[in-house]
Amino acid sequence: MLRTPSAANRLVSALKGNSVAPPPIWLMRQAGRYLPEYREVRREVGSFLDLCFTPRLAAEVTLQPLRRFDLDAAIVFSDILIVPYALGQKVEFVEGEGPRLEPVRNGKDLAQLDRTKAEKRLDPVYETLQLVVAGLPAGVPVIGFCGAPWTVATYMVEGGGSKDQTEARLWAYRDPDGFQRLIDLLVETSSGYLLHQVEAGAGALQIFDSWAGGLPENEFARWCIAPTRAIVAAVKKQAPDIPIIGFPRSCGALAEIYARETGIDAIGCDTGMPLAYMRDRLQSRIAVQGNLDPLLLMAGGKALEARVGEILGALSSRPFVFNLGHGIVPETPPEHVARLVELVKGA
Ligand code: CP3
Repeated sequence: MLRTPSAANRLVSALKGNSVAPPPIWLMRQAGRYLPEYREVRREVGSFLDLCFTPRLAAEVTLQPLRRFDLDAAIVFSDILIVPYALGQKVEFVEGEGPRLEPVRNGKDLAQLDRTKAEKRLDPVYETLQLVVAGLPAGVPVIGFCGAPWTVATYMVEGGGSKDQTEARLWAYRDPDGFQRLIDLLVETSSGYLLHQVEAGAGALQIFDSWAGGLPENEFARWCIAPTRAIVAAVKKQAPDIPIIGFPRSCGALAEIYARETGIDAIGCDTGMPLAYMRDRLQSRIAVQGNLDPLLLMAGGKALEARVGEILGALSSRPFVFNLGHGIVPETPPEHVARLVELVKGA
């Protein structure tokens, strides 16, 4: 059995259902282009994927935001599309455009993917984690992560980002058994991937389901809840102590069912989730995380201060982790992040 390495920390305590004052804070995409020191490292490497697969540099950019800000966790620098890459799909990140993948559209494409090779190819991520753990003060954990099968599948099937995930949704409707095989492959690969991250020192995990929004309830149950539940069960079987955050972005009123049925310890809430819903329907059951608008962090000023006060007022007396409702945008002034952390820590 794997044990969570540093159980005595503020983030883990909140995720396990304790009220922690002031609440722990970390930010999705806290490492990245809004930091000049990240852009400098990024210039040194040829591509974004090279950065993800060079442990020394990936560890360096993981630690950068913690040198500037009093954050309560690091998140390993990587990407959710590392998994399809490791399975053998062609993945590239095009400058100024985003990820581009050679689409997987049917059983024949699926047969090209190879799970047996994936674990080995993911080794650099585990090495990054070990370096990060060595560079962090005691009590500050590093979060490991993966994309949820549905979200990763949407990129794999579309061949990149998309507005409505049309191709994945159509495949799922027209050939649910075929699409299920893709989801099952991702469940198995992601479960092993997360467990190896725990072994390498991750003190908590997050499953990003960025495209969970907009699915009808039956599809949400089959493609978001069931695969997430399977991953959580597989991870907890071997690492029962590890806290897991689920982030079913934009899932609206389905969040309650997700919180109840997946087995996660905490639910990440997007910007659109009302604070009263988070408090009354979610926090009564598990820890909640969220949900400041990343654009308000970019804007800063009085409106930022007011909203941070509202969020803390609604949520901080019960198990809560302060975060954004989605990733930091690259145009965010780092001083605004410093101010945010100060506001939360002064609570
Ligand atoms: O949070 C962190 O600091 C850890 C690093 C991290 C990245 N991606 C680094 C990254 C994490 C946790 C992710 C998750 C991720 N990646 C998600 C889920 C969260 C979300 O935002 O919804 C998704 C959907 C992706 C896929 C992805 N990666 C896209 C669509 C893009 C292009 C858009 C963009 O922001 O550039 C990426 C690239 C990416 N991932 C960058 C970073 C820092 C930018 C690449 C660069 O620096 O050149």
